[in-house]
Amino acid sequence: MCILYMAWPSDAEQWRAAFARLAPELEFRLAPDIGDPGDVRYLIAWESSADLIERFPNLRVLYSAGAGVDQFDLSLLPAHVPLVRLVDPAMASIMTEYVQFAVLALHRDILSYRAQQTARVWAELPIIPAARRRVGVMGIGNLGLAVLERLHPLGFQLSGWNRSEKAVPGGRCYVGMEQLPAFLAQCDILINLLPLTPQTTGILNRERLDCLPMGAGLVNVGRGAHLVEADVVRALDEGRLGGAILDVFEQEPPPPEHPFWSHPKVLMTPHVASTVQIDGAVSVILENLRRERRGDALLNVVDRSRGY
Ligand code: NAP
Ligand code: GLV
Repeated sequence: MCILYMAWPSDAEQWRAAFARLAPELEFRLAPDIGDPGDVRYLIAWESSADLIERFPNLRVLYSAGAGVDQFDLSLLPAHVPLVRLVDPAMASIMTEYVQFAVLALHRDILSYRAQQTARVWAELPIIPAARRRVGVMGIGNLGLAVLERLHPLGFQLSGWNRSEKAVPGGRCYVGMEQLPAFLAQCDILINLLPLTPQTTGILNRERLDCLPMGAGLVNVGRGAHLVEADVVRALDEGRLGGAILDVFEQEPPPPEHPFWSHPKVLMTPHVASTVQIDGAVSVILENLRRERRGDALLNVVDRSRGY
């Protein structure tokens, strides 16, 4: 019985060290040193292939080396092998740092001040108190809720939009497609933390962006394909969006001619809002091993019918 790591080569030694420290009794292997593929019961990977079960006939659990699972073709995964997301509080905390930075940057017009600095302009912009700024989060899951909890003490007016009703600290939860336009209409700053599924692909298109108040700010830390990027560029140029802080893109990195690179109202980061924290991820795997031994349900199993 062994655990095989087959995701990012740059992280591989850290995974080996974490397993050696936290569970020295377990056999841990690093691809490409797979050994006998029949020994592999647990696989940590960023994506999978159609021949997964032919390659690893005794596989019991597939772990996504990240929180998102849109990179897996769920239709190719054998029904008896659960796919588990690696989420832990440290990853959520790192995401909240990024979103807090992005919200404060939009709230305090930092993108406009950057443009002014480039043009050597010294001019004050109006200050709006946090209590008058409405901040909304799409996707109140593990990360979205952590973000709302981090923003709450800053005094913003908070709201969330979700598939099912969830408690939003200090604010309202809008539910389902029917309430999406009303939710968007009251977001001065919109944060996207949805998972990418067939239902959420392209969800922020022209029609939806047009629901936002004029000059709204956008933070995208979900997936690039949640946005129709051409519609975002148009919304920025028309002033519907006052600024966008974008961490994820349809193509990563975006092609050199992509308008986001040089757009004065866009701040881009290279998909770094958060990453799996290896110690936390190993703890999730060890907890699932204990659960499996006891016959309990595993944590963070992807629901294939919902796609997340
Ligand atoms: P999660 O715990 O699965 O939460 C997803 C939330 O989205 C759930 O609350 C879910 O509603 C809601 N949702 C799903 N489909 C919906 C729909 N069609 N309409 C409305 N709400 C919907 O996921 P998470 O751990 O918070 O992660 C969210 C995403 O963040 C990941 O999938 C990944 O793409 C992204 N991410 C990005 C980075 C980065 O560095 N940029 C890092 C990590 C993760 P229910 O509560 O009703 O199920
Ligand atoms: C990163 O984007 C992840 O899904 O873990």
